[in-house]
Amino acid sequence: MIALIGSFQLVLFMMRLTIIGFGNQAKAWSQNLQDSAFPFRVALQPDSASFDKVVELGMETVEIGSKEFFEDRAFVLLTPDDTHHSFMTTYGQLFHEGSLILYNHGFSLSKNNFQETLPHLKHILFAVKAIGSEIRKQYLSKGQFGAVYSLEFVKGGTDAIETWIRKMAKDLGVNIGLFKTTFLHETQADLYSEQGLLCSLIPYTAGEMFQHLVESGIEPELAYLEVWHEMKLIAIAMVDKGPEGFFDLISPNALVGSEKGFQKLITPEFKSNLRSLLTDIQSNKFNQELENTNVEELRKTIRSRWSDSSLMKTFNIMKAKEENEKT
Ligand SMILES: NC(=O)c1ccc[n+]([C@@H]2O[C@H](COP(=O)([O-])OP(=O)(O)OC[C@H]3O[C@@H](n4cnc5c(N)ncnc54)[C@H](OP(=O)(O)O)[C@@H]3O)[C@@H](O)[C@H]2O)c1
Repeated sequence: MIALIGSFQLVLFMMRLTIIGFGNQAKAWSQNLQDSAFPFRVALQPDSASFDKVVELGMETVEIGSKEFFEDRAFVLLTPDDTHHSFMTTYGQLFHEGSLILYNHGFSLSKNNFQETLPHLKHILFAVKAIGSEIRKQYLSKGQFGAVYSLEFVKGGTDAIETWIRKMAKDLGVNIGLFKTTFLHETQADLYSEQGLLCSLIPYTAGEMFQHLVESGIEPELAYLEVWHEMKLIAIAMVDKGPEGFFDLISPNALVGSEKGFQKLITPEFKSNLRSLLTDIQSNKFNQELENTNVEELRKTIRSRWSDSSLMKTFNIMKAKEENEKT
C-alpha cells in the first residue's frame, strides 16, 4: 500500500499540464515551463491561428475536443473568463473523473459554480499575480512575482496535488507565495485592485496630468517622463522599500507635496466612491453590469480614447527614440 501511494504520488508529481489557449498568459506560462523542463502541451481550437507558432517554438500541441485532448488529467483554462462557461458546458462532462481543472482567476467559477455542475472534476484556483508579459520578463530576469491557490473544492489527495502545484509554480517562476486563499476572495481582490487602482486611477490620473502639463506649455517629453515613465520607477521603489521606507526616501519637496496631494485628493467622497466599487463587486452588481456590456465595443471606445490622446502620441515617439538609441 505504501509503495502504491508512493508510485501514485510520483505519477502525480510528474503529471503533464495541458495549457488551454495561447493568449497573454498561456504564451508566458508555456515558455517558462518549457525553459524549466516542466511537462506540458498546448491545447488549441481546431481553427486557431496559433498552431504554427506553438509548433515553431517546439511545443507539443493538441486540438481541444479531440480524443487525445481528454487523455490527460491536468488542465489550466487560459482562455478569456467569459469563454469558460461555454467551454465547460461543451467539454466538462468529457474529462476523466478526478481531472484537475486549474483556473488562473476565481471569477468564472465563482459566477458559474462549476464545482456544483461538474462535481466529478477537481476545480483548483491557481492565480498568478502578474500580467502575461511580466510573467515571462520576470522569469528571464530572475525577478519576482507571486501567486495564490485554493484547493477548497478538492476532496482527498490534496497533499499530492499541493506538491504538484508547488513544483509547477516554482518552474513557472513564482517566487512570492504560494499563498492560500479562496476562489471568492481572489475574485473580489482582483476585481477591486483593477477597478480602484491598477486599471483606472493610475492610467487615467497620469493621462489627465499629462494633458494639464502639456496644455500649460511643458514639453511633452518632460511631461511623459514625469507622469508615465517615472511611475514605473516609483512603483519599484514602493514595492522594494515598503510604504514607510518609501516616504523616508523622498525629498522634502516631495514629502510636503505628497501631504498636500493626499489632503486635497483623498477626500471622504473619494474614499466612499472607492469603497462603493468593492460593495458593487461583493453584491454582484458589477457582474450584472458586466453582463450588460458589449466588451468588444467598449474595448474599441477605450482604444480610440487613448489612440487619439497626446500621451499616446508622445509614448510612440519616445519608444521609437528608445529603439533608435539601442541600434
Ligand atoms: N491578461 C493577463 O495578463 C491576465 C492576468 C491575470 C489573470 N488572467 C487570467 O488568465 C486567464 C487567461 O486570460 P488571457 O488574458 O491570457 O486570455 P487571452 O489572451 O484573451 O486568451 C486568448 C486565447 O484563448 C483562446 N480562446 C478564446 N476563446 C476560446 C474558446 N471559446 N475556446 C477555446 N479557446 C479560446 C484563443 O484561441 P485562438 O488561438 O483560437 O484565438 C487564444 O489562444 C483568464 O482567466 C484571466 O482572467 C489574465
